[in-house]
Amino acid sequence: MFKHALPHRVPAARRYLQPRWSSQSSTAQEPFPPNINEWSHPPSNATISDEEISRLAAKPRQPLTLADLVKHGKPPLNDAALLSSANFTLSRLPARLAHRIQALRNLPFIVVANPNVSAIYNNYLHSLSTLEPFYKKQITTIEEEMKFTEVMADLVRTHSNTIPTLAQGFLQCRKYIDPMEVTRFLDQHLRARIGTRLVAEQHLALHMASTGESALRKPDPTHVGVIDLALQPASIVRTCESFVGEICELKYGVRPQVVINGEVEAEFAHIPMHIEYIITELLKNACRATIESGNEAHPIEITIATAPDVGSATKLDSLRKLSVSEKTNYDFSQDGLEEYVSSQEADVEPLNTAAPCITLRIRDRGGGIAPDALPNIWSYSFTTFNKEEADAAVAENGNSDGLNAIASSGSNQSTIAGLGYGLPLGRAYAEYFGGGISLQSMYGWGTDVYLTLQGIGKTEGLKEGPSVFDKAMSRKMDQRG
Ligand SMILES: Nc1ncnc2c1ncn2[C@@H]1O[C@H](COP(=O)(O)OP(=O)(O)O)[C@@H](O)[C@H]1O
Ligand SMILES: [Mg+2]
Repeated sequence: MFKHALPHRVPAARRYLQPRWSSQSSTAQEPFPPNINEWSHPPSNATISDEEISRLAAKPRQPLTLADLVKHGKPPLNDAALLSSANFTLSRLPARLAHRIQALRNLPFIVVANPNVSAIYNNYLHSLSTLEPFYKKQITTIEEEMKFTEVMADLVRTHSNTIPTLAQGFLQCRKYIDPMEVTRFLDQHLRARIGTRLVAEQHLALHMASTGESALRKPDPTHVGVIDLALQPASIVRTCESFVGEICELKYGVRPQVVINGEVEAEFAHIPMHIEYIITELLKNACRATIESGNEAHPIEITIATAPDVGSATKLDSLRKLSVSEKTNYDFSQDGLEEYVSSQEADVEPLNTAAPCITLRIRDRGGGIAPDALPNIWSYSFTTFNKEEADAAVAENGNSDGLNAIASSGSNQSTIAGLGYGLPLGRAYAEYFGGGISLQSMYGWGTDVYLTLQGIGKTEGLKEGPSVFDKAMSRKMDQRG
């Protein structure tokens, strides 16, 4: 079981082993330095070899754009387009999964050995093993595409509970690892996860909409898989408001009013589930602050504005512009940014230009954020939520493991606060496609949070029936044979 070495452990091992080896007689057969195969990765049942993981992890991880997700055309997709979507998905996943496996291996051993962290590690190994039969060659038949889609469904399912599990794992390991290192790891890991899930979910959604009964129904004019071409942030705010309002009533017995103003009709092409996640987290923060400061008479005000074209700014450019001052807040998101963001050479040129921007300002009268808390709000696990209260609530439910409750609170988003993941993860989602979140606290009064989102550029072609991209992709497939 203990077969291979963690690279960063080797020097320590040598230091420890040297005196013993050097004191042995020259007839000793053991090699020096010791055969690192004696050292281990965390135990796993996965069949994929270490050489294969290293080979895949060394490959460049190709960036993902919103345009990539719509380039196969609008469902129902013909066979060629469906195969092209499957092969595109396949081209993106193995290197990403392998890179995550290596990042997990590079954590201190005691951290990866934690049952929760190692569960996640094993999920990645499992998923990479399930992809192995496919990526060695292209997917060329619809039968293979069906099998591949099942693998995608398994991938999405396997990784659905990652966040509470990792949160719990890192809480349990907090004695052994520097919080900065945790935030750095989680930020890269969860950002990478956004892309991995998204490509898998997009292929699943395209497959579902293109096969079986759905293929016979009248095509949905505004959806391309997980993307809504006519997404209205105002309507997402209303959905989230009612969900968060219920949580508030359950916890506090009141729900603050939410007023939406500005360009309430504004729409663009984006991913509803991402925006729902972000707005739910921001609304929970605003509601909690409003109620806990006794200001529920003052409504939370959400102002929506569309920005004039951002021109040719690439995602990376716009992310860099969001950079905050190092003194007040180290922006972890700048680390390894290039891996996850698009370059200007995105393959679908017309979609990548002049991406429309929508900004939402969420303004509350919840008293703002204390200056000593402010530098920490973007760190994973930082929270001012009353843990005793949370633990007491847990005890009432007959669950004695407070950590468990805190960690599981993140899975269904159904508690008002406590995981400390809302702001950093919300920002990771916003930044993934070139948006961002910034926060302005007016201590003693309230908080303004600005959420900027960048939609897909020109989608008119997609909105009007059989798409040009669809045709272009079919042509490509034909050429490939
Ligand atoms: N609108 C707000 N008003 C006051 N404090 C806020 C607001 N938004 C965030 N915060 C502070 O930032 C902390 C971190 O927020 P978040 O990452 O969402 O984690 P959580 O909500 O689980 O505590 C909160 O605990 C709170 O102290
Ligand atoms: Mg929160």
